[in-house]
Amino acid sequence: MKHNLQLDAQGRLNHFLSIEGLSRDLLLEILHTAQSFIGLSSRNIKKAPLLRGKVIANLFFEASTRTRTTFELAAKRLSADVLNLNINASATAKGETLLDTLRNLQAMHCDMFVVRHADSGTAHFFAQHAAAGVSIINAGDGRHAHPTQAMLDMYTILHNKGGFEGLKVAIVGDIAHSRVARSQIHALNILGVSEVRVIGPKTLMPAQVRTLGVHEYNQLTTGLRDVDVVIMLRLQKERMHSAMLPSEHEYFHLFGLSEEALSHASPDAIVMHPGPINRGIEMTSAVADGGQSVILQQVSNGIAVRMAIMSMAMQTTPRQEASHA
Ligand code: CP
Repeated sequence: MKHNLQLDAQGRLNHFLSIEGLSRDLLLEILHTAQSFIGLSSRNIKKAPLLRGKVIANLFFEASTRTRTTFELAAKRLSADVLNLNINASATAKGETLLDTLRNLQAMHCDMFVVRHADSGTAHFFAQHAAAGVSIINAGDGRHAHPTQAMLDMYTILHNKGGFEGLKVAIVGDIAHSRVARSQIHALNILGVSEVRVIGPKTLMPAQVRTLGVHEYNQLTTGLRDVDVVIMLRLQKERMHSAMLPSEHEYFHLFGLSEEALSHASPDAIVMHPGPINRGIEMTSAVADGGQSVILQQVSNGIAVRMAIMSMAMQTTPRQEASHA
């Protein structure tokens, strides 16, 4: 069997790089562990000592609001020491290689690196070169994967729908450039939803998209018919090398989620978006802020889900702690 770099010899999480190749049991363990952390946010003292004494470095080579902040909050709630490297003011700006950056920070005894980079494969590269006992968490690499986003999305679906079986889920928009969509498709299929649909213009569909285990639609309201979950995606203009759309106005007209378009989904469908939203391009404000939107729940759930992933990778979840006692 092919070795999965993310897992140790016992099949436990060591790094978290992509959803692909992980088992249903492991994804469910992440969701159940996250559930045990959810209550912490509403307590007076929002701390658990599971990562006390550990040092976690956030290396964000690409812009982020939600992911970077929720990773920092998650690490602090687990009592870790957190280092936020300011990439623009770091030696990377003077030409230091990624490998030298990793080696130098490891020499400072960092235990975990949370890595976002515009190039696909960067987190895997870090994991291949990390010292024993050091964990790498992928916070988004190019158009390849954004696995912690997918897991917080799965948590949000589970919380609102009670399970995955029988669900029809539509992912709408720029599938071709979306690391979020790729990770979500793997997670939804592993967790056993009944159908994953991708909806968007042909110019924004990856080649051979159906081999990912999805049904393709190029017309919004047909694709939305009777779905339980609608996931809208941002137009990833920074990853488009040429004009792939006639105009944003035209895109909104054909693929933007309005209340009318949403009425084709199941009446109790939830609306999700990983953020940042381009209002008036991907969806109307009425939908983004409406009763079916769970977009801010996704953000809140990101803290508990990232706590779960970090503590599992450091093998210090509440259950693991109890078994070591
Ligand atoms: N969803 C997401 O990755 O958002 P940020 O780019 O703000 O981290």
